[in-house]
Amino acid sequence: MIQRDETLKTRVVAPAAESAEFSQFEQTLRPKSITDYIGQKEIKRNLTVFIEAAKKRKEPLEHVLLHGPAGLGKTTLAYIIANEMGAAVKITSGPAMERQGDLASILTNLAQGDVLFIDEIHRLRPVVEEVLYSAMEDFAIDIMLGKGPSARAVRLNLPRFTLIGATTKVSMLSSPLRDRFGNVFKFNFYDIDDIKKIALRSAKILDCEIEEAAAQRLAECSRQTPRIANRLLRRVRDFAQYHNAKVVGEKVVDQTMESLGIDALGLDGMDRDILRTMIEKFRGGPVGLNTISSALSEEEETLEDVYEPYLIQLGFLERTPRGRMVTGHGYNHLGIEDSRNQQRNLIN
Ligand code: ADE
Repeated sequence: MIQRDETLKTRVVAPAAESAEFSQFEQTLRPKSITDYIGQKEIKRNLTVFIEAAKKRKEPLEHVLLHGPAGLGKTTLAYIIANEMGAAVKITSGPAMERQGDLASILTNLAQGDVLFIDEIHRLRPVVEEVLYSAMEDFAIDIMLGKGPSARAVRLNLPRFTLIGATTKVSMLSSPLRDRFGNVFKFNFYDIDDIKKIALRSAKILDCEIEEAAAQRLAECSRQTPRIANRLLRRVRDFAQYHNAKVVGEKVVDQTMESLGIDALGLDGMDRDILRTMIEKFRGGPVGLNTISSALSEEEETLEDVYEPYLIQLGFLERTPRGRMVTGHGYNHLGIEDSRNQQRNLIN
């Protein structure tokens, strides 16, 4: 079985974050203010109101939950919220906190108005999550002092802070946790125009000259995901530099995508393998996720979190109660005739 991390590292169009070295890159490209943040209009519009209103009241912002597919800028927006509130930000993640004490020590070190960002909040262990409930609602935690019959709970007050939780799997949050967020924002995939603007902005920061048409082509291959657009931009820049091209034109983009096995819609070899396997071995489905996982030697979680969201977004794949199905559009994209139609026609 291919290990999840290995898969993600070797895949150019993976929406997951990269190693520390590369995430530094991401940080230079991150917009710092809400006006520089491109796309997600509805979130920006509402968030601007809530931030300004909280500032007028001189209160911290209510807790914020950001959810949606990986790579769409949830962390970026969390930093922007802190920046706009003039607050310091502390960062952690669900799986990083093993014991209640790990979270308690972070909470007790917060100052008034600080932002605490918890990435992958759906992966919090239930015992740790329990500590969050009173912290979020009452700005207090109960700590047990001592052990055995003489143990007693002591309530510790916390400064008022804002929790920002981010998750790709909102359905995995327990309702007590979800209900404690005053602001819940769902991230959608970006339209191509916004991805193009993000690519042009990043190119400017990187001092990389790129033609409009080339930026358009790059945007089309970026799976409607800013993180992928920024990564592909770096690869395109490599190809241009290697070939001593001063300006990135369409040809360089095409050459890069071809060399990386990325097609005009941003699908790579693995995406196409998933669709082709479902078509050739399982007549396009419905087929269970575990069966696809075995057929492709890929973990179910990786298929579900990494590959499926964009295939579903494109309308190439459907999740049905009986399993996954390739749609007619999926067949078309691979240039395979959808024989299911003929069978249906014969029956009718
Ligand atoms: N980088 C990542 N997401 C972005 C966005 N929405 N706007 C600008 N730059 C970004």
